[in-house]
Amino acid sequence: MTDKSSGNAAQLATAADRTTELPILSGTVGPAVFDIRKLYNDTGCFTYDPGFTSTAACRSKITYIDGDRGILLHRGYRIEDLAEHSDFLEVCYLILFGELPTPAQREHFVNGVTYHTMVHEQITTLIRGFRRDAHPMAVMIAVVGALSAFYHEDLDINDPHNRLIATYRLIAKMPTIAAMAFKYSLGQPFMYPQNHLSYAGNFLHMTFGVPCEPYKVDPILARALDKIFILHADHEQNASTSTVRLVGSTGASPYAAISAGIASLWGPAHGGANEAVVQMLAEIGSVERIPEFIKRAKDKDDPFRLMGFGHRVYKNYDPRAGVLKSSADEVLDLLGKKNNPKLAIAKELERIALEDDYFRERRLFPNVDFYSGIILEAMSIPTSMFTAIFALARTVGWLAQWNEMVEDPEQKIGRPRQLYVGADERPFVPLERRG
Ligand code: SDX
Repeated sequence: MTDKSSGNAAQLATAADRTTELPILSGTVGPAVFDIRKLYNDTGCFTYDPGFTSTAACRSKITYIDGDRGILLHRGYRIEDLAEHSDFLEVCYLILFGELPTPAQREHFVNGVTYHTMVHEQITTLIRGFRRDAHPMAVMIAVVGALSAFYHEDLDINDPHNRLIATYRLIAKMPTIAAMAFKYSLGQPFMYPQNHLSYAGNFLHMTFGVPCEPYKVDPILARALDKIFILHADHEQNASTSTVRLVGSTGASPYAAISAGIASLWGPAHGGANEAVVQMLAEIGSVERIPEFIKRAKDKDDPFRLMGFGHRVYKNYDPRAGVLKSSADEVLDLLGKKNNPKLAIAKELERIALEDDYFRERRLFPNVDFYSGIILEAMSIPTSMFTAIFALARTVGWLAQWNEMVEDPEQKIGRPRQLYVGADERPFVPLERRG
């Protein structure tokens, strides 16, 4: 039935002999949605959707994924075009403000980020409280959350200026904090950011430079890293972005919300997969052992999954994986490491899996994490830093989504309901009458 007044088609839903009308809302592109906001009030029923596989939690203008066609757009621009023709800070501007910047806008934004890269000197004391073998993600969760203790004025998130400053601070400081976590694990001194370096170049300088001598940024590595940052910048309402939105919906500090996003990203089913992929390829060890692991990946009694394969939304090749696959060839060749056995195993694993009915029927393709770790490892970035780099790049997406949530008049505190299957009401039993 079509509701002429709103121009949106509507469907009737009946539950427990109570009926409601569900308007259908359409976006620019992609699936329409049933507006179920009146459902419970009219029928007394909730919807049930573990993992939110079919649930739109918000309206958004930032990123669109066509999972069937393997398309990823940021504000309408294809990820392949952005990776090829843009750079990370320009993509940050696009994701945050909706348009590619003019030269003047670009310069202002780059300066805004550049002059917020230093952290309060007390942060070094905070980091020194960790054991040297602390995982960088654990350090980043703690330090980013602790930033809320250093920037109290940002806590009024309803002030757009406060949100803008917090946005600049977090994009700017994430590379510094990630590099500090790495340096601390080595027992090496922290390196201060250098304002004359690019965003990616500065991260390489802070990660690999030492005070004893000048560090020369390799433009090949810097470009490869900048491209990796672009490919990880935002991705609709993934688990960590939804975490940031949910935390932010309570009015919490942006630093607390981003810290929660980092925590969510760390899981091996999400951003932690890039580290898990490299560990999996090392465990496979040779092309000859691939069939053994393909068998394990299909065995329901075996918890092993092919890390870097599958995706909740992509039921086609993840376009980011495509860009990274070609970058892997280019970077490893330029670094004289094109014979890296892990790359050979990855390519053969991909070939075999894509021909296997189990993976084809479930439309399991390589995702963004499948090739990124191989490139990072070839760049001598330690495995423990892979997810930290993902978090560093995703910070702009989390912040854009957080700002969009705060500015959205339809958004309110996130509070899902449940299907209760526990005990019905029953009287308390005193201790002496139990057992
Ligand atoms: C990221 O959401 C995002 O956008 C995330 C991300 C982003 O940019 O933010 O793209 C980044 O997190 C990429 C995903 C990285 N994770 C991995 O590579 C870990 C391995 N992948 C799987 O854990 C899994 O594919 C998920 C978590 C990514 C997706 O899981 P879903 O959508 O919940 O799918 P599912 O678990 O229901 O799987 C459907 C079927 C199952 O088999 P059946 O029960 O139907 O028989 O496919 C099987 C699964 O067992 N399956 C796999 C598999 N992934 C799914 N079998 C073997 N190996 C795998 N990797």
